[in-house]
Amino acid sequence: MTRRSVVDTSPPVHREMKDKLDTSVFRKTVEVLAVKVPPAKAGIILKSPSMRGTIIDFPKMKSVLSTQDGERLVLLRFGDEVELPDNAREFLASQARPLQKHSIDLDYNYWTTDDILAAVLPEELLEGAPSGFATVGHIAHVNLNDEYLPYKHLIGQVILDKNRNIRTVVNKLNSIHTQFRYFQMELLAGEPDYVVEHPESDCRFTFDFSKVYWNSRLHTEHARLVESFTKDDVVADVFAGVGPFALPAAKKGCAVLANDLNPESYKYLKINVDKNKVSSLVRPSCEDGKDFIRSSVARVLEHPFPPPATPISKTQQHRAKRLAREQGRPEKANDEPSGPSRQRITQYVMNLPDSAITFLGAFRGLLSSTNSSVGGRNLSGVYGEEDSSMPMVHCYCFSREAELDKAEIDVRRRVEEELKGPLAKEVSLFHVRSVAPNKEMYCISFRLPRSIAFESLSS
Ligand SMILES: C[S@@+](CC[C@H](N)C(=O)[O-])C[C@H]1O[C@@H](n2cnc3c(N)ncnc32)[C@H](O)[C@@H]1O
Repeated sequence: MTRRSVVDTSPPVHREMKDKLDTSVFRKTVEVLAVKVPPAKAGIILKSPSMRGTIIDFPKMKSVLSTQDGERLVLLRFGDEVELPDNAREFLASQARPLQKHSIDLDYNYWTTDDILAAVLPEELLEGAPSGFATVGHIAHVNLNDEYLPYKHLIGQVILDKNRNIRTVVNKLNSIHTQFRYFQMELLAGEPDYVVEHPESDCRFTFDFSKVYWNSRLHTEHARLVESFTKDDVVADVFAGVGPFALPAAKKGCAVLANDLNPESYKYLKINVDKNKVSSLVRPSCEDGKDFIRSSVARVLEHPFPPPATPISKTQQHRAKRLAREQGRPEKANDEPSGPSRQRITQYVMNLPDSAITFLGAFRGLLSSTNSSVGGRNLSGVYGEEDSSMPMVHCYCFSREAELDKAEIDVRRRVEEELKGPLAKEVSLFHVRSVAPNKEMYCISFRLPRSIAFESLSS
């Protein structure tokens, strides 16, 4: 059945606005047809096949209202009787129900972000108008094209008004802090408060979005990598940011060295470790990635992590807690550590796609006695004789190559150049996302070749 023209509920057009949104001008009264019936009859009208497609179905509007005299008013989508389909008119006549007019007052609150933007932006900008935005905590961020910049505050204000959880709206500018990778941003509307609380992977992250790197689009990638870890792992996160790999990994039992050179990231990393109650498993640091890699091995060796906790059953938990209470001892956690302590790093995460590959040289001779931080120790005992006891390295990078085969050749060549030796086993490339035309983000995962890790650098 074709839908006939219905009353126009679009907001009044006010294209004269530019810098300041005047919400008071968005008012409109629409008149619709209505049928007044006793309460018992409302259902008959609503369900009648003859009335199909005629009942009001506009967003945020009820189709049946109660009147003061105890009757019901069924609202129709049409403003004029001549627009009603014949069978609907005949049905209403058969029910001896005359049509009446009903006025509905609409104001700024009724319309959506898209509706209001369509009423204020110049017509030539309507197609492609920025209705979508991403959120981080209470902040909505948009990335406005140049032609929308004269209207940026209008756009910001509408987004702010229409989204209850948003307190701040910013426009991400096209410049990124060269080293620490966070966006420059300008306030479009709301409070200049950039410290957010953001949930991801069962953790809560607090950080200043204007001073540290955060990208909610990486959520699935964070989860994918953490999923590949086991609770026995010791993870060294070289470019940890505020902890989106480190904290979920610790929550599953991994021990983590988490490092970031940005003092602000480090500050919030420490806050997040505390807030998420993983301080026994995560050790934050604030160093250059190369120095961190070089010292990571000795750090874990000198201060091993406790063994991974083994979950115990509910009954065992109750029994242990009762016993502790009876003996006046503090009650222990629900998981009990078991097995030897952890002193061998098993995973390195390197999420600085622009340049992480250039840090790979730090793995040359990492486990050799020539690595000054190792202090002359022979690490072949700790790191075993098997290739499988060498750490895995997960290194993010960009490549122009969109085809996985070609990207693998490109990325592998660059990795081997930095390591100054061939990758051997367990090499895989994962396509993370397309960042821009000719800019694909990948994660190469490989087992650190034993020959490279034990390479004697003095030779
Ligand atoms: C792309 S961000 C990734 C952060 C985090 N892993 C995530 O997924 O959100 C890269 C991080 O590396 C940090 N960084 C940049 N240069 C560094 C360096 N030379 N050493 C250590 N960290 C560095 C930045 O501060 C930033 O937090």
